[in-house]
Amino acid sequence: MTLAESSAARAAGTQDFDIDRVRADFPILQQEIHGRRLVYLDNAATTQKPVSVIEALERYYYLDNANVHRGVHELSERATRAFEAARANVRDFLNARNAAEIVFVRGTTEAINLVAQSYGRWRFKQGDEILITAMEHHSNIVPWQLLCEQTGAVLKVAPINEHGELIMDEFDRLLTERTQLVGIVHVSNALGTINPVKTLIRKAHAVGAVVLVDGAQAVAHIQVDVRDLNCDFYAFSGHKIYGPTGIGVLYAKQSILEAMPPYQGGGEMIEHVTFEKTTYNKLPYKFEAGTPNIAGAIGLGAAIDYVTSMGLGAVSAHERSVLQYASQRAQQIEGLRLVGTADLKCSILSFVVSGTHPADFGTILDQLGVAIRTGHHCAMPVMQYFDVPGTARASIGMYNTREEVDVFIDGVARARQMLV
Ligand code: ALA
Repeated sequence: MTLAESSAARAAGTQDFDIDRVRADFPILQQEIHGRRLVYLDNAATTQKPVSVIEALERYYYLDNANVHRGVHELSERATRAFEAARANVRDFLNARNAAEIVFVRGTTEAINLVAQSYGRWRFKQGDEILITAMEHHSNIVPWQLLCEQTGAVLKVAPINEHGELIMDEFDRLLTERTQLVGIVHVSNALGTINPVKTLIRKAHAVGAVVLVDGAQAVAHIQVDVRDLNCDFYAFSGHKIYGPTGIGVLYAKQSILEAMPPYQGGGEMIEHVTFEKTTYNKLPYKFEAGTPNIAGAIGLGAAIDYVTSMGLGAVSAHERSVLQYASQRAQQIEGLRLVGTADLKCSILSFVVSGTHPADFGTILDQLGVAIRTGHHCAMPVMQYFDVPGTARASIGMYNTREEVDVFIDGVARARQMLV
């Protein structure tokens, strides 16, 4: 097989996934926790970093550290080149039209707040509507609530069914000519549901609404093509795709960004400043006030290179098979109920066990070297809908194996025996 053929096969998910090679790329996984081999199943909270990302950060700080777009000296030029190369990587990864559409932010949360305050604040008025779904993370709820308080707009919520899927008829009913913006999560962090975002975007555009997609839990698992989706905004965080924390991306269509006022004022976002009037920098810098997270962006660029070299098709196929195995085994545990059983889902296995509190599973599994998250997962309305205080959640990344699932499930069974 030629290099090009093997790359195409990886992208399509038809080539064997070399899990041992992948695991060897993540040094943190090679340790023991409480005397047991670490089983890291908290990838929805944050993913671990491969050596190539750690080395990119090291290289920047060892050799190239300087501010970007400001100096004529060699280090500044190197830092600027690496920073802009990372932006180009993101553009290619999302299939955006050009790099001006890629705004570096701190993460998904900041991206959504940017859209609410810059796009919505001066445009929305009393009685306008913002439509979200009942499976949103708080970061795709609260910025819109703040905006509604500021503008008199009204927040509408499309409900979900008992599998954790969006009820399409209800979404259609709530989508009207009053809807100005639709905010939808691509993959639910609490349930794992994959939303049919392309269809939802088409429907929203038909009534003249713009669409923001929260891609925080999607980009590490699903190939995203913003031009094919035709979304207006797409947000994600670097640390959930094997990159550093504190860096994220807002993609937006150029024409929309051009029409939006700056979100924050400061250095870098200006063209010319006098006390009487300031004019703004071109895109995307108009939205990047202050010294950016240069190392973070470079690390994110390296993370995207890493994920791309593995092939998202192959990653997805591997993760799907591990998730299926985990779901089958989990359902054999007495009293265990899966929360989130959508037909189309990825990565997430959320559950409760009758007669127990989810938090206890987190503590007991930790003693067995297994890291999961318990609680409301920043999606309290999802917990309210399912009438649970929270769930225990295992979230699968590209390095997880069936053997690790066995350790996790045996741990859950053991914890249940201790707790019931
Ligand atoms: N939103 C992250 C999670 O789901 C932190 O855990």
